[in-house]
Parts: sequence; structure tokens; C-alpha cells
Amino acid sequence: MRLHPIFFEPEVHSSIFLLTNIIGSIFIRLIIHSWPLSLFWSIFYIILILLINHALAAGRYYLPIKNLRDQTVIVTGAASGIGRVSALSFAKLGARVIIGIRGQERAEKIAKQLSKESNNGTVIGYDLDLSSLENVKKFAEKIDHVDILLNNAGTMPETYSETVDGIEQQFATNYIGHFYLTQLLLPLLTNGRVVNVSSLVHHAVPSTGIDYSFSKLKNKYDHIQAYAFSKIAQIYHASELTRRYGIKAYSLHPGTVMNTNLNIHKSVMERFILLLLSAVGKTVEQGAMTSLYCALSNDAKPGHFHSNCQVRRASKLALDARRAEECWNESEKLINEKIKS
Ligand SMILES: NC(=O)c1ccc[n+]([C@@H]2O[C@H](COP(=O)([O-])OP(=O)(O)OC[C@H]3O[C@@H](n4cnc5c(N)ncnc54)[C@H](OP(=O)(O)O)[C@@H]3O)[C@@H](O)[C@H]2O)c1
Repeated sequence: MRLHPIFFEPEVHSSIFLLTNIIGSIFIRLIIHSWPLSLFWSIFYIILILLINHALAAGRYYLPIKNLRDQTVIVTGAASGIGRVSALSFAKLGARVIIGIRGQERAEKIAKQLSKESNNGTVIGYDLDLSSLENVKKFAEKIDHVDILLNNAGTMPETYSETVDGIEQQFATNYIGHFYLTQLLLPLLTNGRVVNVSSLVHHAVPSTGIDYSFSKLKNKYDHIQAYAFSKIAQIYHASELTRRYGIKAYSLHPGTVMNTNLNIHKSVMERFILLLLSAVGKTVEQGAMTSLYCALSNDAKPGHFHSNCQVRRASKLALDARRAEECWNESEKLINEKIKS
């Protein structure tokens, strides 16, 4: 019997560990009608459990030591969360980092902050709104060189909306914008790497696959399903880039990182629950490690899905080469249609 890949995730191990301890403690309390530990040892026990839990949730570490002095790295969505930490790490390693952020002024301001935090690293900020094909093109026209393209930006709104180009918001921002950006930069990327920050949520795509018309979701929006469509498409994109052009392209799940802005659209209550859940998740720094691993390590496998700084089996649907080809063709068709109109 093959275990579902989700059982290999560190967050699952830490959740099981924490739950076992909570249930075990309740069980002991019920059986012997008292708590066997003094206050001192109870506090010691809780601290120990939390420390072990934190170590389990962290998973594998990848701490790059490469010198990236002659390298140019593009990071999308570097305003916050995993993207910001990734951009900072590349700058600390000496790379020239170009960050794509919504709003030119904002991009420049964050670039300045990152440069300061990285001890005068070279960080350049350009306006990039992945939900607009025209804006993506303008961004790409400013790029003269690129060694690593980190397609990191993402969004997960809970209500249906369309972009200026008339594409469903999540599919457009998380996937189509990055697909188009990569296409435009392709001539510069022949010896480079493309890294797509996808998610384990791609497992939630039904066996019928991506609904490119979004007809069902338009009527009754399931934001997790829309997110899953965009995330499986990023896996197809990486595998097709490697298959079609021999480019080193990777997709990955960063881990469960609760305290980023991804959950900004959630209600206060939902965010409070997520905050509690952060005890079993990764820190933002740990969440950036698989992106750095795919961007820099020789052990990362082009065309494959990664998690916890190693290759991880993607869903059966995500590994279907015919569907990957279909997704590429649909994306090209969609972009061409939108550009013409
Ligand atoms: N956190 C997790 O547990 C988790 C798990 C699996 C996968 N991921 C993936 O990891 C990536 C990073 O997410 P995160 O958790 O670090 O969340 P985050 O803090 O919200 O970062 C997402 C970034 O994407 C940017 N972005 C959103 N819409 C954009 C647009 N239209 N154009 C350009 N940039 C845009 C945001 O910029 P603004 O400030 O302008 O909105 C933000 O900087 C995402 O692809 C996400 O799907 C995260």
C-alpha cells in the first residue's frame, strides 16, 4: 500500500504529535482522576512538547552558501511572506535581485528595505501586476538578464472575480500571469531556472481536471477549487517547460505557513484559528527553503514537484503528461485571445 504523499509532510507529523499528546493527557486525567505532574513539571512538559513540535514542523533545512554575485534573480510577490524572505536570501547571497510588486513606488520602497536588510545588496523594484497581461508585458520589457525566475506571487480571494482581461482572478494571478511572464523571458532563460511556487492543495482538483471555462465556479464559487486549478497548472507548467525546452523548471509546495498575507481575505475568526494552527506549521523562513532549494540545489529535479527540500510525488492528475500538454495549449490559446482583444 502506498501512503498518500500528504503523510510525508512535516506539518502532518507535528499535528499528529501534538494531538497524540493532548489526547494522551486527557486520557491520563480521566483514568487516574488527577494530573500526575506538579506545576513545575507540567510547565516543563508543555515547553518540551512545543519544542519537539516546532522541530517536527520545520522539516528539512536547506541553507545555501553559494555566491550568486554574477546572477540575476527575479522574485514575484516579494512584498510579503515567502517571496519577501526568498528575495532577501538571494540578495544576501550576492545576487542582483529584481522584485515584481504591485505599484512602482511600493516596489522601490520594498527594494530599498531589502537592500538595507541584506547589507547593501542589489535589489531593484519594478511594478508588476500579474492579473494584467499588459502590465506583465511592461515588466518583462524592463528585464535584460535573468538566471533564476521565482514565480512566487499568489492570491486566494473567497469570492468570484475576474481580472481586467476577463480571466478568473486566481487562475490569472497565480498561473496565467506567471505563464505569460515566463514565455516573454524564455529567450533569456535557456540556461536558467524557473521555480513555480505551487501547493499541496493541487490534490483537491477533481478527476475531471481543470475546468478552463470556469462555468461551474462562476455560478457557485469554491475558492479552494479555483486555487487548486491554478496550483496544478503551475505544476504542469514546470514539467512542460522542461519537456519542451529542456529548461530547468521546478514546482513546489513551500509548507504550511500560517502567518503570511495569503489568508488576508479570511474572517477574523478564521484568522484566529489559523493563528492557533501556526503551532503546527512552518515559519516564513522555513517556508522559503524549498524555493531556495529548487532555485539553487543540484539535487532538485527539473520537471518535478518538490516539498520539504526534496522531490515529492505530485497527484496522479498532476503527473498526467497529456493533461500538462493540454494545459499549455489552453493557456497559449487564452493569452493569444486576450492579447488580440
Ligand atoms: N502560506 C502557505 O501556507 C502556502 C502554502 C502553499 C502555497 N503557498 C504559496 O506560496 C506563495 C507565497 O504565498 P505567501 O504565503 O507568502 O502569501 P503572501 O504573503 O500573501 O504573499 C503573496 C504575494 O503575492 C503578491 N500578489 C498577490 N496578487 C498579486 C498580483 N496580482 N500581482 C503581483 N503580485 C501579487 C502579494 O502582493 P500584494 O502585497 O500586492 O498583495 C504578496 O506579496 C503563493 O503562491 C502561495 O499560493 C503558500
